[in-house]
Amino acid sequence: MSALLPLLSLFACGSKDPVAKPDTQDTGAETPPPEVWGVAAAEDHDPDPDVVEVHLAAAPTSVDGWDEDGPTEVWAYNGQVPGPLIQLWEGQELRVLFENQLPEDETTIHWHGLRIDDEMDGVPMLQDPVAPGETFTYTFSPPDTGSYWYHPHITTNEQVERGLQGPLIIHEADSPQADRERFFVIDDVYLRGDGQIVGFSGDHMTDMHGRYGNNLLVNGSTDLLTDETRPLGVERWRVVNTANAREMWVAVTGASWRVIAVDGTLLPEPYTTERADLPPGRRVDLEVIPDADATTVTMSVELPEGVASWESYPVFEATVTGEPGAGEPLDWGAEPLPVPEETTQEVTLNLNAESDEDGDLIWVVNGQVYGDHEAILVEGNTPTRLVVRDRSGLDHPFHLHGQFFQVISREGEVDPEDVGLLDTVMVGGYEELELYTTFDNPGTWMAHCHILEHAELGMMAELVVSEATTGE
Ligand code: C2O
Ligand code: CU
Repeated sequence: MSALLPLLSLFACGSKDPVAKPDTQDTGAETPPPEVWGVAAAEDHDPDPDVVEVHLAAAPTSVDGWDEDGPTEVWAYNGQVPGPLIQLWEGQELRVLFENQLPEDETTIHWHGLRIDDEMDGVPMLQDPVAPGETFTYTFSPPDTGSYWYHPHITTNEQVERGLQGPLIIHEADSPQADRERFFVIDDVYLRGDGQIVGFSGDHMTDMHGRYGNNLLVNGSTDLLTDETRPLGVERWRVVNTANAREMWVAVTGASWRVIAVDGTLLPEPYTTERADLPPGRRVDLEVIPDADATTVTMSVELPEGVASWESYPVFEATVTGEPGAGEPLDWGAEPLPVPEETTQEVTLNLNAESDEDGDLIWVVNGQVYGDHEAILVEGNTPTRLVVRDRSGLDHPFHLHGQFFQVISREGEVDPEDVGLLDTVMVGGYEELELYTTFDNPGTWMAHCHILEHAELGMMAELVVSEATTGE
């Protein structure tokens, strides 16, 4: 049984160069944010150094190059897929003036991973969806640094697949500056033979496994991306998996590389691995140091092929040239991770499949389908054991809004690659994960599967976190 559709697009060695110079001319911040290669950055429209003001509009447009039959109709933020890179320094406030220019669909923007106020979280339970022609202003000061992303939170499976998704960085004020920063937004899109996005009527396979694309998209390109890099320099690559359902892995050749941050937060002890795992929604930051004698550095997306073998899809290739750097790994200045305290609260989320009265597949949390659910009340500021287990035999990238968590155990074991303050983690078929969180951000928060079709078919819970501090 395999849910994988073949990747039809073989990567033509294109010369298309997506290098985008951020427009910093209106930036009033004393230091403009670093130039990040990969996705064109949003302009800051507010000269106030404490505020970044970004204007976003969601509208239909078309993109060239995905198919030789001509342009593909998409939905995009500011006309680009992925949407503009939003970046700010820690401590800055972000104001996003958003306009919905979609002709028929209401939408919202959710800021994946940001621990902000729930009214700004972009879920329709807390915010009236933005109707066509309407506007909404999102304002918040993110408390954390790192790599994040944004996307709609209503008919999310369709809106994200059509192209509404974008990267976001909150730069640490005191981390060392890499020679080069890059952002890679990795997605798979399901195209018909004529290059148009396949419709969303759903079928059993899609309801069951989520929607798999047949074309790999990196920064909105189906072509191999190219650039230059210098030997023994230090680069910081930020990677997000925005696919509806497909878990992906990335690996780098021609360089020594390690994982320095996961889901935004820098790791006190970066780790090396054969391939970095990206369940849908997850981010990793990689430190990449090109080998002294390498001629190219390549990043590949790796996908499992049958049993215990991997297929490698090169998506980025940098020619190594120029003056060598020092080749020393950097101290990125990570804070120690909080040490879990003894827990005084337990919350269990059982993930499962069921059929509704018509015999159609639905996805449930604790036997409840979202929309016909009761909220789960939890005490805020309380050391909590959060047990998430799958009962369906299929994988679920579990995502919690508004809070971070740590993985205490996966089936009783500690997997070194589960380290970090996370917002998204893969729960494998029949697995049980024990997570630790303190629920320190009060409000109403979604906890759901980031296979967007599973969430759409009900696999989303509502957690109401009280202001109480009784756990202290
Ligand atoms: Cu990235 Cu609730 O979502
Ligand atoms: Cu799921």
